[in-house]
Amino acid sequence: MAETDRIAACWNALKALDVPDLRALFEADPGRLAAHVVEEGALRFDFSKTHLTGEALALFAELAEAVDFSGRRAAMFNGEAINVTEGRAVEHSAERGEGKAASVEAAREHKARMRTLIDAIEAGALGEIRHILHVGIGGSALGPDLLVDALARSADRYDVAIVSNVDGVALEEAMARFDPACTLLVIASKTFTTTETMLNAASAIDWMTRAGVEDPYGQVVALTAAPDKAIEWGVDETRILGFSESVGGRYSLWSSIGFPAALALGWDGFEALLEGAAAMDRHFRHAGPLENAPLRAAFVDQYYARVMGCQTRAVFAYDERLRLLPDYLQQLEMESNGKSVKADGTPVDGPTAAITWGGVGTDAQHAVFQLLHQGTHVVPVEFVAVTEAGDDLDPAHHQTLLVNCFAQGAALMQGRENAADPARAYPGNRPSTTILIDALTPHSLGALIAFYEHRTFANGVLMEINSFDQFGVELGKEIARSIEQEGAQGFDPSTMALIERALG
Ligand code: F6P
Repeated sequence: MAETDRIAACWNALKALDVPDLRALFEADPGRLAAHVVEEGALRFDFSKTHLTGEALALFAELAEAVDFSGRRAAMFNGEAINVTEGRAVEHSAERGEGKAASVEAAREHKARMRTLIDAIEAGALGEIRHILHVGIGGSALGPDLLVDALARSADRYDVAIVSNVDGVALEEAMARFDPACTLLVIASKTFTTTETMLNAASAIDWMTRAGVEDPYGQVVALTAAPDKAIEWGVDETRILGFSESVGGRYSLWSSIGFPAALALGWDGFEALLEGAAAMDRHFRHAGPLENAPLRAAFVDQYYARVMGCQTRAVFAYDERLRLLPDYLQQLEMESNGKSVKADGTPVDGPTAAITWGGVGTDAQHAVFQLLHQGTHVVPVEFVAVTEAGDDLDPAHHQTLLVNCFAQGAALMQGRENAADPARAYPGNRPSTTILIDALTPHSLGALIAFYEHRTFANGVLMEINSFDQFGVELGKEIARSIEQEGAQGFDPSTMALIERALG
């Protein structure tokens, strides 16, 4: 059978499967839990409360073979140009030591420079630095923000603010907290052209100048894959930390883009983060399809998006330290896989990325869980929880948090009949996955984020799309530039009226 026919046959067979009842699956198979849990290091992935049966998994494993999943995975780790629309390799794993030897070596050199600069800052070479003002957006902000918030919230090494929005309110808020004389301005932009970041950087320099800082540019560090542009902007070459073009923006927290996290965590913490990610890289590279956590998770994603037609998936972090995880995943998953054409340019033959949304438990239980339990949409839910508490208060806090997390998964699946009072009935049979982490450390967080990266890639391969371009964001940027340069003329009446009313 030609590969395209085989791929179509797998999808058709998956769609033809009866949708089982989750409760019945557990009743029928005492071995279900063991067969649907994958353990990797400090992370336990429990897929047992999803509708995937042995038969569905076998079809997905066949689909993975038909789309040459192992070949695509090897091509990525070998540094081949798998980002075909941009003619680039995809080498974020080289940043943590896994990949083509030359790229791993180049990443090591970049890291050595980063470490030297951090040591110099800590030794006072740039004066008394207490505050880190990091300006960047998208992948140049979400990853560092997640890391600092999760792991260095109460660390007293540096006070870090990550400012992304071009709305001056965001920058003003950060500047109000900081002393300009003791602030390191970190400009993070892969391209060093992004409007929001360049405007925020200029305003931050202006703030330092107005405050009487003698040499504001002497307190600037640039994190970029375009060092020439940073030099042109006024950053001294010695304070430019580069990284390779083959590290995509939303995959870049492992590169110099992770600089504020390395400062806030300390170098050992940053290295542990990279090691955790590298351990997940090795797992993803070498585990077979049914023992492979990112690939198994992608099977679940594909089942709900393409077979069951679920339009969204929800991620709830049952740990305050991971409150930024859903935001981070929104960019990772939707910017990577929100596509309508395959890598070869032909239209996709089904829905692509589900809309990722979510929040923090237990807060979300008192806000959006009503819909999850009784609404008409079926939403595959993902719970992320940590066994070891992050607080020193009465252990009742953490115990209540975890009990609630596990209770929600049970309630979604179990449901409750109530023929006499339908408003109080719960249909049940609603799917969830639980990721349980032993303790939240740089190592385990590195592994968790790398898991999500590989899962995103695996989803792309199963759908035959290129997960590594993002042309969808360009048109809006172009139109904004044209309005700024040429004014309101030539647009539709609605847009012109809005511009005239608000901007004159
Ligand atoms: O507009 C989308 C995007 O290109 C993201 O992919 C990227 O993470 C973000 O903008 C920021 O880009 P840069 O790091 O080049 O400023």
